[in-house]
Amino acid sequence: MKTLLDLFPLVADKIVPPVAIVLGSPWPVTQLVRELKGVETVCFQMDQFAAERLREKLAQEQLTAEVVVSADLWDLPPRFQTVLFPAAAHSDRELKIDMLDQGFHILQEGGRFISLSEYERDTEFAPWHKKIFGKCGETPRHPTGRAFWSEKHGERPRRRHEIVFHARTPAGQSMAFATWPGTFSYGRMDNGSRAMIEVTEIRAGDRVLDMGCGNGSVGCLVSPAVGPEGEIVFVDSNARAIALTDHNAKRNGLTNYRLITSSSLSGLEPQSFDVVLANPPYYANSEVARLFIREARSLLKENGRFYLVTKMPVQTIPEVVDQFVEVESVENRGYTIVIATA
Ligand SMILES: C[S@@+](CC[C@H](N)C(=O)[O-])C[C@H]1O[C@@H](n2cnc3c(N)ncnc32)[C@H](O)[C@@H]1O
Repeated sequence: MKTLLDLFPLVADKIVPPVAIVLGSPWPVTQLVRELKGVETVCFQMDQFAAERLREKLAQEQLTAEVVVSADLWDLPPRFQTVLFPAAAHSDRELKIDMLDQGFHILQEGGRFISLSEYERDTEFAPWHKKIFGKCGETPRHPTGRAFWSEKHGERPRRRHEIVFHARTPAGQSMAFATWPGTFSYGRMDNGSRAMIEVTEIRAGDRVLDMGCGNGSVGCLVSPAVGPEGEIVFVDSNARAIALTDHNAKRNGLTNYRLITSSSLSGLEPQSFDVVLANPPYYANSEVARLFIREARSLLKENGRFYLVTKMPVQTIPEVVDQFVEVESVENRGYTIVIATA
C-alpha cells in the first residue's frame, strides 16, 4: 500500500529537532514518530478523540512523543526547528492553508515547514508555501505524493481564516456567527441544525445542552428563549469548536453558559438538563450518534426533551427507541427530527 510515509526518506535530511507534527490520523503520525527515532517531538491535535487514539497507538508501539490538544497551532511556543504536516488527501483545503499560516508562528527563525501531500500532482501546496514563507522547495513527482518545504525568515501578522454567517432565532432575532477551518460547517449555518431549531420547544428557565456544539450556533440561537434563569451548556470533542463557540457566545451577548471539551461527554451531571439538542456526526458506524443518544438519556431530567436531527431515520430511530419510552419524529427541510421524552 502506498502511504505518505514513503515520502519521508525524501525529506529526512531536512528535519532538525525539536519537531512538531501537525494533525494527521493516529497511524501515519505514529509511523512518522517512529521514523524520527526518538528526537524531541510534539504532536498537535485539535480533537480530543483523535488525540486519545494517537496516545493509545504511541503507547502500543512504545514510542515517546508529547500529544497536545489545542484550538490553534499558534498556541504552541515558537521553538520548533521543523514542522511536519502530513496532509491526507481528504482533508479540508481551508484547514491546510490555516495550518501553514499558523505553523509559521511556531517556528524558530530559519526553521522549516514541511508539507507531505498525498497527491502526486499536487499543485496547491507550492503556491500556499510561497505566499506564506516566500519560497518553496519540492520533491520531484513521486507515486505516493509530494513533499514541499520552506524556511521561516522574519515575521508576519497572525491571520485568522474566518467566515461569518448570520442566522435568526425562532423569534426572529438576528445573530452573527464566526466559523473557522477545521470546525463543522465552515462558512454557513447547517441546514439540519436550522431544521431542528425550528421544531424545538424551549421554555424560560430551561437548562439546555448543545451536544457536539461545533460553532455554537444551535445553543446560541435558542438562548434568548431560556431567559436569564436558564443556562446553555456547550460540549464538543474539538478544542477549536469550543474556542469558537466561546467567541460566538460572547459576540451574541450570552452570559449564562458553560463550555466543556470532552469526547466521552463526561464532566456533566446526570439528570440535570431539561433539553438536549444534537446534530451528531454519522460516520464510523454511527458510534458517536449512539454515544450521543445514550448520554442524552442519562443527562436529562425526568420529562426532559431530546431533539436529534438526522438524514438516516431508519437506522437512528431504533437507537433512540432503545433508550427512551416516548419517541416521535417530524420532517422539516428534508431532515427528520427525532423527539424523545425522558
Ligand atoms: C455534525 S457536527 C454539528 C455541529 C453543530 N451542532 C452544528 O450544528 O453546526 C457534530 C459535532 O460533534 C462533535 N463531535 C464528534 N464526536 C464527538 C464526541 N465523541 N464527543 C463530543 N463531540 C463530538 C464534532 O466535533 C462536531 O462539532
